[in-house]
Amino acid sequence: MIKNIENEVQRRRTFAIISHPDAGKTTITEQLLLFSGAIREAGTVKAKGKKSNKFAKSDWMDIEKQRGISVTSSVMQVDYDGYQVNILDTPGHEDFSEDTYRTLMAVDAAVMVVDSGKGIEPQTKKLFEVVSKRGIPIFTFMNKLDRDGREPMDLVAELEEVLGIDAYPMNWPMGMGKTLLGLYDLYNKRVEIRRSDDEDYFIPLDEEGHAQGEHAFKSSSIYSQALDDAQLLHEAGNSFDREAISQGKLTPVFFGSALTGFGVQTFLDAFVDLSHEPAPALTVADEYIHPTDERFTGFIFKIQANMNPAHRDRIAFVRIVSGRFEKGMTVTLNRTGKTIRMAHTTQFMADSREEVQDAFAGDIIGLYDTGNFQIGDTIYAGNQSVQFEELPQFTPEIFMKVAPKNVMKQKSFHKGIEQLVQEGAIQLYKTYHTEEYILGAVGQLQFEVFQYRLLNEYNAEVEMTPMGSKIARWIDEEDLDPKMSSSRNLLAKDRFGQPVFLFENQFAENWFKDKHPEVRLKKLM
Ligand code: G4P
Repeated sequence: MIKNIENEVQRRRTFAIISHPDAGKTTITEQLLLFSGAIREAGTVKAKGKKSNKFAKSDWMDIEKQRGISVTSSVMQVDYDGYQVNILDTPGHEDFSEDTYRTLMAVDAAVMVVDSGKGIEPQTKKLFEVVSKRGIPIFTFMNKLDRDGREPMDLVAELEEVLGIDAYPMNWPMGMGKTLLGLYDLYNKRVEIRRSDDEDYFIPLDEEGHAQGEHAFKSSSIYSQALDDAQLLHEAGNSFDREAISQGKLTPVFFGSALTGFGVQTFLDAFVDLSHEPAPALTVADEYIHPTDERFTGFIFKIQANMNPAHRDRIAFVRIVSGRFEKGMTVTLNRTGKTIRMAHTTQFMADSREEVQDAFAGDIIGLYDTGNFQIGDTIYAGNQSVQFEELPQFTPEIFMKVAPKNVMKQKSFHKGIEQLVQEGAIQLYKTYHTEEYILGAVGQLQFEVFQYRLLNEYNAEVEMTPMGSKIARWIDEEDLDPKMSSSRNLLAKDRFGQPVFLFENQFAENWFKDKHPEVRLKKLM
């Protein structure tokens, strides 16, 4: 059967979950897989997630051996209620890296999972900042309602204050922890109750906002508290605004428990309804390519190397922007003009990889790569060339000096560094005058991956000297003055030769700004 592009695009939903480690990202992903019928048993995803979390940093190679697991789970595609849902993993913990940020450039929505006992934590804030610049819908799930957490009003106020986004509570907890009675659902105008057999049931609200019929819970103070809160939200809170949600200006907030599944289906149903189909993408020629355009186009946002050490294969992850991808089709890689037959592509399921037969805008496909692709590359079918806008680079936060151990291996050292930098695995800097190599990364693991790959793929052993965390700020070359150097900053240049100061800490940056108020310090995204 020939699939209709418009229908296929309409039912696509591509999103990532942003959260601080341990907020419940894995658990809620698993619930989605359960509801969609992709897995039958709870614990499947978690067991896998746990396995890689357990490894110490130096065991990266062992993690790599298990990559079959963590990579297939880095993109998952499931059917949920007629929608084709693509979930992109944003690695946290030790795996946190620029890849995590770049993945957010390939999604149309984000789900922010917050531990209701803890509120907004640092990693959530960082990821939120990247997502909010894109103006895509952001859905909030306040998790772990089965435990005693913080006051719901505090949580919502903190979310608005710390992240600077308006919030609209879609439902409101009736108690929490041991006293959890259910959810007062303002959006669907019903009360959601969890029965002891884990089946939820719903009681519609009457005109006054009371649960219809006779129920024991109606005489409890927890229920009247929820009614009071709902009244307050109605009078003093934000109004529901679909357009604002769609533009990422208003985040719908859902309460629930990923572990017990309570509130999860309500959340998922609203998510697929309120999030939108794949968006058009802008080209460097300032044109929008629309998802329903006949012609296939896509861009590469991530390259994962060495997934199978025996084959040294790499997989380039492509976000499809428009048209229909068909197995075996020929595409052009815009940067080089080279044509490539897409014979071996892979799509990612919950626990296996499958050859792709066809795919549409919003889908992620994996191309087996022998070194053709770079992050940010555009591929397209047909004769008319397309180049999507460049993906942003992210300001690295930790730095490391690096040098070859054996001077005889200089050549392979340089070749290795050049290729890994191109791949986007790590950022390269040099001290401004002495040209010593400095690596910059968003997460510690990137250094270990770098060291391991340089040794295994380029046979170059390296000496690494940690420099710790720094604040990197770019300045215009004409502003540069030798007097600006101090013991609290290090002047370096990036791989394009642009000057960048590495400040010891916030104090050092502020001190610099006081001394040189005329100089503009810039950061990457
Ligand atoms: P992450 O992927 O965001 O890092 O978090 P993950 O889902 O692995 O959850 C982190 C911990 O929080 C796990 O406990 C998980 O069971 C628990 N958790 C997740 N959602 C809920 C919830 O709604 N309620 C409660 N009470 N706990 C939740 P753990 O002790 O680290 O693992 P395990 O020993 O339970 O497997």
